[in-house]
Amino acid sequence: MGDLTTERSNPTGTAPVLVASNRGPVSFSTAEDGTLALRRGGGGLVSGLSAIGDPDAVWVCAALGDADRRAAREAPDGRLDRAGHDVGGQAVRMLDIDPETFARAYNGVANSTLWFVHHLLYATPTAPAFGAAFRTEWQAYTAYNAAFAEALAAEAAPGAAVLVQDYHLSLAPALLRAARPDLRIGHFSHTPWAPPEYFRLLPDDVAESVLTGILGADRAAFLTRRWALAFAECCAAVLGAEVDREALTVTHAGRTTRLGVHGLGADADFLRERAHRPDVEERLAALREAVGDRRTVVRVDRTELSKNIVRGFQAYRHLLRTRPEWHDRVVHIAFAYPSRTDLAEYRDYTARVRELAAEINTEFGTDSWQPLILHVNDDFPRSLAAYRLADVALVNPIRDGMNLVAKEVPVVSDRGCALVLSREAGAHAELGEDALSVNPYDVIATADALHTGLTMAADERADRTKRLAAAATALPPQQWFLDQLDALR
Ligand code: F6P
Repeated sequence: MGDLTTERSNPTGTAPVLVASNRGPVSFSTAEDGTLALRRGGGGLVSGLSAIGDPDAVWVCAALGDADRRAAREAPDGRLDRAGHDVGGQAVRMLDIDPETFARAYNGVANSTLWFVHHLLYATPTAPAFGAAFRTEWQAYTAYNAAFAEALAAEAAPGAAVLVQDYHLSLAPALLRAARPDLRIGHFSHTPWAPPEYFRLLPDDVAESVLTGILGADRAAFLTRRWALAFAECCAAVLGAEVDREALTVTHAGRTTRLGVHGLGADADFLRERAHRPDVEERLAALREAVGDRRTVVRVDRTELSKNIVRGFQAYRHLLRTRPEWHDRVVHIAFAYPSRTDLAEYRDYTARVRELAAEINTEFGTDSWQPLILHVNDDFPRSLAAYRLADVALVNPIRDGMNLVAKEVPVVSDRGCALVLSREAGAHAELGEDALSVNPYDVIATADALHTGLTMAADERADRTKRLAAAATALPPQQWFLDQLDALR
């Protein structure tokens, strides 16, 4: 790691706007002939950054795998654009962080600790237990954050705006401020924020560092007011910070950080155009063929512990057990795409999802009816086809920062779709009125909501879908990004 104070005395960067996130806009794999194959990702940040159309804006991200590392090493200063890669007209600096340090920071602290805390995922009689192994991981997390702060400090022009993303980078804002007090720094949390009593599962010094790290930003922003207030409550409880709940500010150690709320919406123009391309039509025809004239309950998730897929299947099973009138009249289409497969909990969870799907098909299936169709390989056009076909969409996370599936389905739905939505999803703040709200732990209530959705009159479903789509697209990704930038100025 270089010396951050060097950057302080002599800022040489030229980027007026910077984004920092663990996962970047591109990733690499090694092709059969040994060359690097580049894949571009999508999402809110990608379209957000494209909105400013500034070729000098820089996105700093981490190399996630071996091929990424090779690309980063071969590029001058990790700048993929300068190595001739087609990164979509953007400047991208990919950090080649030592693989062991990266794994400890990403798997150990970010995904197995902070993610678990914010999504309330621990089975507390046995976990967490913060011992010596965690301390090694925490050191790695600190080094990983310092590597980002160093790269940002080197790339940023005087007075530049820097938008730091997510729980992977909670220490970076304070580290960057120490190196470059001239910068305007924003932090954005894409996750929920834990309530103080749960946040305090973290060792005291770690809890303090996470909060003071984010408070190093001028502005800390969240997807809903609920998560912003939870962060403020943690600052009050852990740091004794002064909190203004109306003005949404936190004052600690003589500095005030403003809190912001930006509810990322779905990209209507993109989705509506993409959902009618031939590859989607083709998949829609195949799904229609499989479903016949039956009703559909659709869910699309990463196979992520917080998404609550197992209880969703239990609810569907309860529906079939208690309301036999649905036998042979409904199909549950569930897409559960691979996620974080390095973690044993995720592999076990995926196995449980597959097992339960098989149990349901064995219990109710007939020669001519497969009650549950599960796909575990990622296929975006097939997801869009399922969105179009859905009579009911099931989005029942234990807890979720926002949940964009809940916002995307109403936008592309062909005939209107009832939305069964967890009250613990950030999206519930905007969609709750026209959704069928559920407590994600209550399997019977979820089964009842599925029944209500399946029997909802067509005109009511269409009306609700119209209102859901309007609410879901109120803040498109480009505006979401520009608002954050404006608020930093
Ligand atoms: O929801 C928080 C988040 O960081 C999202 O921004 C992103 O979609 C997801 O988690 C990515 O997780 P990972 O990079 O571990 O696959």
